[in-house]
Amino acid sequence: MDMPTLTIGTRTSRLPIMQGGMAVRISMSPLAAAVANEGGIGLIAGSGLTPDELIAEVRAARAETDGVLGVNIMVAVRGFKELVHAAISAGVDLVVSGAGFSRDVFGWCRDAGVEMVPIVGSERVAKLSQHFGASAVVVEGFEAGGHLGTDEYMLDLLPRIIESVDIPVIGAGGVVTGADIKRTLDAGAAGVQMGSRFAATVESSAPDAFKDMYVRATEDDILIIKSPVGLPGRAIRNPFTDRLTAGDYPRIERCEACLKQCGREYCIMDKLIRAQGGDVIDGLVFAGSSAARIHDIPTVEALMDRLVAQWRTASEGAPA
Ligand SMILES: Cc1cc2nc3c(=O)[nH]c(=O)nc-3n(C[C@H](O)[C@H](O)[C@H](O)COP(=O)(O)O)c2cc1C
Repeated sequence: MDMPTLTIGTRTSRLPIMQGGMAVRISMSPLAAAVANEGGIGLIAGSGLTPDELIAEVRAARAETDGVLGVNIMVAVRGFKELVHAAISAGVDLVVSGAGFSRDVFGWCRDAGVEMVPIVGSERVAKLSQHFGASAVVVEGFEAGGHLGTDEYMLDLLPRIIESVDIPVIGAGGVVTGADIKRTLDAGAAGVQMGSRFAATVESSAPDAFKDMYVRATEDDILIIKSPVGLPGRAIRNPFTDRLTAGDYPRIERCEACLKQCGREYCIMDKLIRAQGGDVIDGLVFAGSSAARIHDIPTVEALMDRLVAQWRTASEGAPA
């Protein structure tokens, strides 16, 4: 028995697995290319990169794979437009947008023949996305890592979104095993988007200390933090999140005005860059609640083989 394929507009991947974009510099060309080569959809995270850096990453990934490749860019970042155009010029198949809604991006993608896939957290935004020409939507639930646009769990939200649109709906949040994939597809999703599971792979550009936190994390270590983006975020507890919890926000030392609107409680870009640089004490380690179920750091190839095998076991064991 084979897993179903995933078709988004004119692009089809052999497996219904999209690797979530993870900024800053966690999902880069090595991870995205490896996922695409294994039959999934690989996403490079554009937020926090310059347009030239993003072009170089997309080209590096393209040199390694003929598979389906995209970028994830947060609408909340000031350089959103330039980054989307950079990604399109470098030859991506799709653009996934998170943390906000942009009408303009649909036209930019349509003109270039690139599929546009917004991340949504409500029926209203899903319908709006379909109206403006989305090729698919990602429904991200409250259990996901990174910034959160809803307080509902993915499997609660998913059926209502599927009901409200006619385009493929991809479920994100809390998917780390083949059994999780089966549950999400059984609920009507066309595919899954997985972030945390791919952050803890060999090809992820997270430093070892970051991956190690995933492997060690228990449910008690994963919490919600306040982000100056204006959305809550989910991360692994460390001395920095203890400061945030206590309301002791670190002073902003240098501001590059990277967000369209910033609460200015602290500099999130600085904290994400620190964590990616290996400072997991004073940096912010975004992770989904499912990180508590991640206990190893496989290669992408080994992980994809495992996910398919687990999905198969769950499917064969299921009543007809
Ligand atoms: C370290 C990390 C960074 C992330 N960065 C982004 C991002 O830049 N843009 C975005 O839309 N989503 C981001 N996400 C969300 C993922 O793309 C994905 O939707 C989410 O991780 C799915 O939930 P899961 O972690 O339970 O698999 C991030 C998640 C993690 C764990």
